[in-house]
Amino acid sequence: MDVKSVGVIGAGQMGNGIAHVLAAAEYEVLLNDVSQDALDSAIATITGNLARQVSRGKITDEAMQAALGRISTTLELPQLGQTDLVIEAATEREAIKQAIFEDLQPHLLPHTILTSNTSSISITRLASRTDRPERFMGFHFMNPVPVMQLVELIRGIATDEETYKSCKTVVDRLGKTAASAEDFPAFIVNRILMPMINEAVYTLYEGVGSVQSIDQSMKLGANHPMGPLELADFIGLDTCLAIMNVLHDGLADTKYRPCPLLTKYVEAGWLGRKTERGFYDYR
Ligand code: CAA
Repeated sequence: MDVKSVGVIGAGQMGNGIAHVLAAAEYEVLLNDVSQDALDSAIATITGNLARQVSRGKITDEAMQAALGRISTTLELPQLGQTDLVIEAATEREAIKQAIFEDLQPHLLPHTILTSNTSSISITRLASRTDRPERFMGFHFMNPVPVMQLVELIRGIATDEETYKSCKTVVDRLGKTAASAEDFPAFIVNRILMPMINEAVYTLYEGVGSVQSIDQSMKLGANHPMGPLELADFIGLDTCLAIMNVLHDGLADTKYRPCPLLTKYVEAGWLGRKTERGFYDYR
């Protein structure tokens, strides 16, 4: 199927990046959120990121205006039923995602492909609650979306080949690289990345190193672009904890137990950059 229009659910840090790259690749984008403020700030972020690309000579001003012209916003979820492909990028909570797909389902065109940008939740389970498990798959971008090259494509147990090919074509047109992952907790990237971040939190918790020395060690000693604690703040500590819980519950292995210090930070509302406080203080 030739995808022309894409509905993006959730205008947060992932959703706005996804809308940005789709519009830049000439897809018509309908961006949805429950909050008008979130939609307004997503458009402001996309405009700022495109303007930076113009100022660095990466795209022209006309291309920026054309991309912005391809993004519409709506508070009405049912309107996304008229698009060819839906990418859900709401909060990383299964009940929220399921409720969204349930609400959207009666309004879908028969051919619409449903996907989730979930970083860890079972695609098979999300798909099983819809009327189209064969046209449902995982479409997982990395943060920051405009910069990161990878998209994980995750087939649920029932996903058909045509759906996979349609999504792969979208990834190709975005100029990104698709990695195919089987549907097991946290797929590939987060199966490997999150235990590393969790171990960095344990390293702090057990007093082996300070925030600065842990991050510096991994930046200078392992050539990571960001230290693990800085990266955790960037991703969001609530998201990191949610992914560790999915790994712990789904694989039933104590090696995935979330560090109590990570839990404590989340309980304090210290979620990283988005709340201006996490392992670092951004205030
Ligand atoms: N949005 C859009 N563009 C951004 C951006 C953002 N949030 N942050 C940086 N950029 C752009 C900059 O404009 C710059 O573009 P140009 O090359 O055109 O000038 C480019 O990225 C490099 O930025 P900087 O020079 O300012 O900074 P940097 O070299 O330190 O790179 C970084 C910033 C790309 C974020 C880098 O630190 C990095 O790669 N960090 C690791 C990111 C990572 O691991 N992401 C995966 C997280 S895991 C995940 O996403 C999966 C999940 O489910 C949780």
